[in-house]
Amino acid sequence: GLVRRPTDVVVTISDDRGDVPTYNKKGLDAIIKENQSLGYVIGMLWFKRELPEYAQKYVEMVIKLTADHGPAVSGAHNAIITARAGKDLMSSLASGILTIGPRFGGAISDGAKYFRMAKDSGKTPSEFINYMKRVEKKNIPGIGHRIKSVQNPDVRVVLLKEFVIKNFPKHPYLDYALEVEKLTTSKRNNLILNVDGCIGICFLDLLENADFSPEEKQDIIDSEALNGLFVLGRSIGMMGHIFDQKRQRARLYRQPWDEILYD
Ligand code: ACO
Ligand code: LMR
Repeated sequence: GLVRRPTDVVVTISDDRGDVPTYNKKGLDAIIKENQSLGYVIGMLWFKRELPEYAQKYVEMVIKLTADHGPAVSGAHNAIITARAGKDLMSSLASGILTIGPRFGGAISDGAKYFRMAKDSGKTPSEFINYMKRVEKKNIPGIGHRIKSVQNPDVRVVLLKEFVIKNFPKHPYLDYALEVEKLTTSKRNNLILNVDGCIGICFLDLLENADFSPEEKQDIIDSEALNGLFVLGRSIGMMGHIFDQKRQRARLYRQPWDEILYD
């Protein structure tokens, strides 16, 4: 009889073989007809399920809140410099995206990882802070900001917290993180729960409320899907900056000498 040729690639999220492409088995025509949200589409393609309404809204809020934070931050700066060096859209965007990492925008997944470990293993906030300092010997991902502080709060974090407290059935990880923040800010006023930390930690609450299994949670954290939310959101702003520079026909950027100490 016929023998099925072994496949190299296994795909579990979408299918383009029929008349209508499907996202996690749901026809694109139905998704459009039902006017489903971007949060719904992300749920189907990233997490393989229809997220509850509050979770779809949370995902969309994260995309909007992370879209831009001005021209001075690593990602936008790199994108602007690259565009002004005459490079194309894809190169300029890639240059910006490549700055996203443990210090800037890419601390969401590790924030979720370490706060989950801390809370689930029963560490008190103070034990967690000591553990990060003495055992991991690294800054706590999701804590600290260059310009935001207790006196100059990050409105994005305020909005996220408000949304989660109002709309999530429960939010034990956020509550835990706020206790950690009380201790870190008592040492230094800019060691706030930052936007990366807040997104990742509230996502732990989302996964808990939406009954994801422990293995699914682990996979979502390990795959960097949560950092992916920042990459997706911030790409909107970085492309905006690239178009802005191109529209202005901005010249090649050269850093002024007076901003450099030649030692
Ligand atoms: N956990 C513990 N201690 C910290 C943390 C932290 N997350 N961040 C800074 N500190 C401490 C440092 O150890 C240092 O202490 P010391 O003076 O005793 O040596 C002091 O605070 C100052 O540290 P700097 O690195 O100079 O602080 P800076 O303001 O430049 O750093 C940064 C800002 C990079 C965000 C930092 O707080 C950090 O690494 N945080 C963790 C990574 C993170 O969450 N990044 C995402 C930021 S939000 C975003 O990018 C969208
Ligand atoms: C951002 O969203 O880019 C930041 O929070 C980083 C910053 O320094 O503003």
